Amino acid sequence: MGMLIYLVALAALFGLLFGFDEGVIAGALPHITQVFDISAGEEGFLTASVPLGAVAGAIVAAAFADRLGRRMVLFLCSVLFAIGAIASGLSHDEWMLIFARLILGIAIGSSAMAAPMFLAELAPARHRGAIVSAFQLMITVGILVSYLLSYALDPLGAWRWMLGLGAVPALICLFGILRAPESPRWLAMRGRVGEAHDVIAAIQPHLSDKETRRIVDAIVHSHSVETHSTGWRAFLSAEVRPIVFFTIAAFLLQQVSGINAIIYYAPTIMGHAGFDGITTQLAATVGVGVVNVLMTIVAMYAVDKFGRRPLFIIGFIGTAISLAVIAVTMMESTPPLAPVALVGLFAYIAFFAISLGPLPWLYMSELFPLALRSKGMAMASVANWSCNFLVVFLFPVVVLNFGAAATFAIFCAFCTIGAVYAWRYAPETKGVTLEDIEKQHAMAVT
Ligand code: BGC
Repeated sequence: MGMLIYLVALAALFGLLFGFDEGVIAGALPHITQVFDISAGEEGFLTASVPLGAVAGAIVAAAFADRLGRRMVLFLCSVLFAIGAIASGLSHDEWMLIFARLILGIAIGSSAMAAPMFLAELAPARHRGAIVSAFQLMITVGILVSYLLSYALDPLGAWRWMLGLGAVPALICLFGILRAPESPRWLAMRGRVGEAHDVIAAIQPHLSDKETRRIVDAIVHSHSVETHSTGWRAFLSAEVRPIVFFTIAAFLLQQVSGINAIIYYAPTIMGHAGFDGITTQLAATVGVGVVNVLMTIVAMYAVDKFGRRPLFIIGFIGTAISLAVIAVTMMESTPPLAPVALVGLFAYIAFFAISLGPLPWLYMSELFPLALRSKGMAMASVANWSCNFLVVFLFPVVVLNFGAAATFAIFCAFCTIGAVYAWRYAPETKGVTLEDIEKQHAMAVT
C-alpha cells in the first residue's frame, strides 16, 4: 500500500504542475506586459504557447509511451518541466518566454496523457476511478497554488519567481520518478513478465503469489486480444464513430465555453469587470481558484449520485446564464457592477467545475472500448489542446476588436449550443460497468 500511495502522490504531482504552469501566467502577465511592451497578438501567443506545445506533447506521448515506457516519458516530462520553469524565470525578452512556455506545454501535454495512463495501469481495479479523478483534482489545486503564489509575490513585482518556482515541484517529480517502478502493464506488454509480477507484488503486497500471477496472466491475455483490434481503422466502425464524435465534441464545447480565457487571463478580466488595482484583481482571481477546487470535489461525488447526463445539461445551462450576466455587466465597466460580475464569474466556475470540467474526461475514459482507449485518448486530447490554443490565442485580439462584453456573449452562445447538444446526445453511464457500456454500443449497431 505504501508503494501505491507513493506512486499516486507522484503522478498527482504532475497534475499539480499542469495546473500550476497553466494558471501562473494569469498573475505574471500584467507585469510581463509592462516589462516587455508586447502587442495583443504577442500576448495571445505568449499565453497560448502552453496549449500549443501541449498539442505536440500529446502526439509525442502517444507514440513514445508504448516505445519507451510510461516511466521514461514521465522522467523526460519532469526534465522539461524544470527547464521550462527556469528558462521562463530567466527570460530576457518575450520570445525567450514564448519558447520556454512551449517547452512547458510539451511537458504538460505529454504528462497529461502519460500520468493518468500510468495511474490507471498501476491502480487496483476497485480504486481506479478515485485514483484517476485525483489527477483532475490536482490540476485545479495547481491552478489555485499558482494564483496564491502570484498574490503573495505581486507586491514585490516578482513575476520571474512566480514562473521560476514551478521548477521546485518539477525537481521533486524528477527525483521521485527515479525511485518509481515501471507500469506493470507496459512491462507485461514488452514480455517482461517477471518484472511485471514483482511490481504488482510491491504495489499490492497483500496478494498471494497465485493471485499476483493471475493478474499478470490476465494482462498478457488481454494484450494478445487487444493487439488484433487496435488499428486506427476501428475508429471508423459504426459502433465507435459516435463515441469519437461525442468525445471530441464534448472537449470542443468545454473549450469554447471560455474556461481558459478565464483561467489564463483572470486578473485582466477582473480589470474589464471594473476592479481597480492588480492586488484586488488577484484576490478575486484566488477566489476563482478556490471555487474551482471546491466544486471539483463536489463533482467527484455528484457524477455518481445524479448521473453524468443531467449534470452535463445543467452545467451548460448554468454556464450560459452566468456568461450572460458577465457580458451584461461588462457593457458598462463601472465599479458598482463589479461585484455582480464577480458573482457571475464564480457561478460560471462553479457550474464548469461540477460539469463541463470533469465530464469530458470521464466520458472519454468510460466510452471508448478498452482496446481503443489510449488511441481514443490521444485523439480527444489533441482536439482539447488545439481548441484550448485557439481560444486563448484569439481572446486578447477579439476583446481588443469587439470588446469584453461581446466576447463573453460569444462564449454564452457556445454554452447555449452545448446545452442543446448535451440534451440531444449526452449518454448516461452512471453505475454501468465498462464492459456493459461496450456491450450497449455493440448492440446499438446490430
Ligand atoms: C480543462 C482545462 C481547464 C481546467 C480548469 C479541465 O477540465 O480541460 O482546459 O484549464 O479544466 O479547471
